[in-house]
Amino acid sequence: MGELENIMELSKRRGFFWPSFSIYGGVAGLNDYGPLGSVLKDKVYGEWKNLYASIGGIEIDTPSVTPESVLKASGHVDRFIDLATACKACKNKFKVESLLSDKGVDMVPSGVEDAWKIMKELSVKCPRCGGELGEPFEFHLMFPIDSNGERFYLRPETAQGIFVNFKLLLNFNRGKLPMIVYQQGKGYRNEISPRQGLIRQKEFNMGEVEVFLDPAVNGYFKPETKEEMYLLDRDGREHHMSLPEAVNKNIILSEDHAYFLEKTMEFAIRIGIDSKRLRFRQHRKDELAHYSRDCWDLEFLMDGSWVEITGISDRGTFDLGNHQKFSGENLAFEGENLARVIEPASGIDRMVMAILISSYNKRENGYVNLKLLKNMAPYPVAVLPLQKKDGLSEKAREIFNEIKKIEPMAYYDESGTIGRRYARQDEIGTPYCITIDYETLEREVVTVRERDSMEQIKDIPYRDLLTHRPFISNPILKGSGSVKN
Ligand code: GLY
Repeated sequence: MGELENIMELSKRRGFFWPSFSIYGGVAGLNDYGPLGSVLKDKVYGEWKNLYASIGGIEIDTPSVTPESVLKASGHVDRFIDLATACKACKNKFKVESLLSDKGVDMVPSGVEDAWKIMKELSVKCPRCGGELGEPFEFHLMFPIDSNGERFYLRPETAQGIFVNFKLLLNFNRGKLPMIVYQQGKGYRNEISPRQGLIRQKEFNMGEVEVFLDPAVNGYFKPETKEEMYLLDRDGREHHMSLPEAVNKNIILSEDHAYFLEKTMEFAIRIGIDSKRLRFRQHRKDELAHYSRDCWDLEFLMDGSWVEITGISDRGTFDLGNHQKFSGENLAFEGENLARVIEPASGIDRMVMAILISSYNKRENGYVNLKLLKNMAPYPVAVLPLQKKDGLSEKAREIFNEIKKIEPMAYYDESGTIGRRYARQDEIGTPYCITIDYETLEREVVTVRERDSMEQIKDIPYRDLLTHRPFISNPILKGSGSVKN
């Protein structure tokens, strides 16, 4: 099994995520978060908000259902389109860009005719059945909703909810730029061929940040980290250098843009994505979104392919300029000047997937331990009686009830052998198991077992474990990644 399949299998079995509506046959591109995945996703959002709040960001929450006028102004009604083709034999539909990429040609055709010409030149056939593909056509990526004669769409990005509120937000921010606004929420895309679990979905969780800057002030934000990063520029050249160096060498065109690459990397590492699997890739001119002047994606290496997890786009004044024109409202921050925007936009579900893949570890004995950082584990601790008999179960429940008071996500398990219960907690990434045994009955001490080393620390007075909130920051507990915040 590939990395992705391993994670999908484990996720369904253990309750991270699974395909939605399966009792009705399922719908490609829609997934549910189960009990553990819901917690993990919220932790990702939590770390993301902490990071942007720590640099002065403010939050907003706007509707998913968006009037057509807004998305006409933003360019999505006219330009948020993919080129697609359908197989004449099996009727499956595909994105032309992906078919060309599978043939080793990375380009976005300029239109239907261009796509048809290239498909013929490369003799592209159906990847499912080898059948003949039909003439390409435009495929609109938004979901329309009609209500009382008015047209709405499910938002393709949360960003527009921020742009249309620019004046109110600026007022809240005492009229000052830079202003950093972030929004969590669902985005929707009518993907032609949704696939790969949480990677390509019709409905997904986004974490978008719009940074409004005075265009006359360059370098308000500057990257600092000296760490070498893997950068792939739009001409396909690889660079291994720090972000300040990349700005000096004009590989990244502004310090402000580079700073938000740095923040994006910081976030990815903070939530436990393996930095050795990350690179920044600059968009080619032909693949830039209609609103973007320049864009660097943070990509994660998964099953041998690079997948975008965050796009850090320079949107210039595109959105504010268009909303000003279409709405007639003055959206300048002073005089006639419009703010310039840098946008780090993260696919939260893809980040969840990247965390799970980064953490997945199969031991030599075939058992899996999910090496989640302590701050990300859905259950920070599990309480396990060694056996059910001789009053151990009752004592374990008593201790569990006390631990619950300081750690609401503590978990209790008494079914099956202790070995199997450890294995289960390892597989879902619980950093610590507290075992209640005969010593506990006699001396009020417990054994703490650490997930990755499987080390067991004996004779810990359990009351000493009840002194820290969060529980996992107790100095008695060791290993299992660092606790952030
Ligand atoms: N706002 C960035 C995106 O839609 O991907």
